[in-house]
Amino acid sequence: MIVTTSDLFAVAYGRFAVGAYNINNMEQALGLFRGNLESEAPFIVQISRGSRKYANVKMIEAIIRAAEEIHPEAVFAVHLDHGDEETAYDCIESGFYSSVMIDASHHPFEENVAITKRVVERAHAKGISVEAELGMLGGVEEDIQVDEKHAMLTDPDEAAEFVRLSGCDSLAVAIGTSHGAYKFSGRQGLHFGRLAEIQKRLPDFPLVMHGSSSVPQSEVKRINAAGGEIPTSARGVDENEFAKAVPLGVTKVNIDTDGRLVWTRVHREFFRDEPAKFDFRGPGKIFVAEYASFIAHKNQKLGSAGRLEEVRAALAK
Ligand code: G3H
Ligand code: 13P
Ligand code: ZN
Repeated sequence: MIVTTSDLFAVAYGRFAVGAYNINNMEQALGLFRGNLESEAPFIVQISRGSRKYANVKMIEAIIRAAEEIHPEAVFAVHLDHGDEETAYDCIESGFYSSVMIDASHHPFEENVAITKRVVERAHAKGISVEAELGMLGGVEEDIQVDEKHAMLTDPDEAAEFVRLSGCDSLAVAIGTSHGAYKFSGRQGLHFGRLAEIQKRLPDFPLVMHGSSSVPQSEVKRINAAGGEIPTSARGVDENEFAKAVPLGVTKVNIDTDGRLVWTRVHREFFRDEPAKFDFRGPGKIFVAEYASFIAHKNQKLGSAGRLEEVRAALAK
């Protein structure tokens, strides 16, 4: 059942974070739905502009519709990840999305407000909620490169002003994470002090943590042992820190890179061990099962596992 993102946030705020997982193909969809059902978790399916281009908008949306038919007991929202204005309008008009992200964080503050406000007006007219972003995450964000050294943490006063002026429903904040596999070069972690300051100024307002993959060292090692060349300097977010971020207002946690690592590990190991095989359904089947276990594990860390019944009860009210 597709639900609104705001309904999920209303149940989750301060208690658990909803996992927001990017998908690009059928195998990811099968693993994603299976993993969330196995762990009895509500979730958010995210589609990036890159995914819409890669799979074709009609195809990726049809995959989600099919997954919903196969698993009618799943409770999830459909979200546009890192949208620009044009794509956000496209998704709002399509009637399929629960929420859209407008990412204008690379623009100056006033322009970010103006763009976000325009999207909010169009989205709210259709009952769709809007995630905006303020501050800059390091790493690679679609086609925008941000030097990690210049990554800017979100300013708490600006965050409150931004929400007031733009009318957005949730805010992606920069608190030390970045996209991709190379988030931290040393012992850096999440900036909880900054997060607490933001929450103080925006009480009860859902905050979103992008760039939340953990980049498990075990996964990197297995990929490299099977012929990969991922630098071992690759570091991610300590998944045990999600529980500390939740009471500070983090309600949505975005994970994509970790899923790509699972895919890469499964396929590299499969073809290393079975060099004569060429039926892609072999590794595909293993990937679906491994991805499902990965999702179930993440949901335990996010606190969303085992929440399906209470979400259903809240939705029924
Ligand atoms: O934050 C970006 C997400 O990981 C989506 O990546 O734009 O390559 O689909 P993508
Ligand atoms: P990761 O690259 O850490 O998986 O972040 C994904 C993300 O933020 C999607 O919007
Ligand atoms: Zn992101």
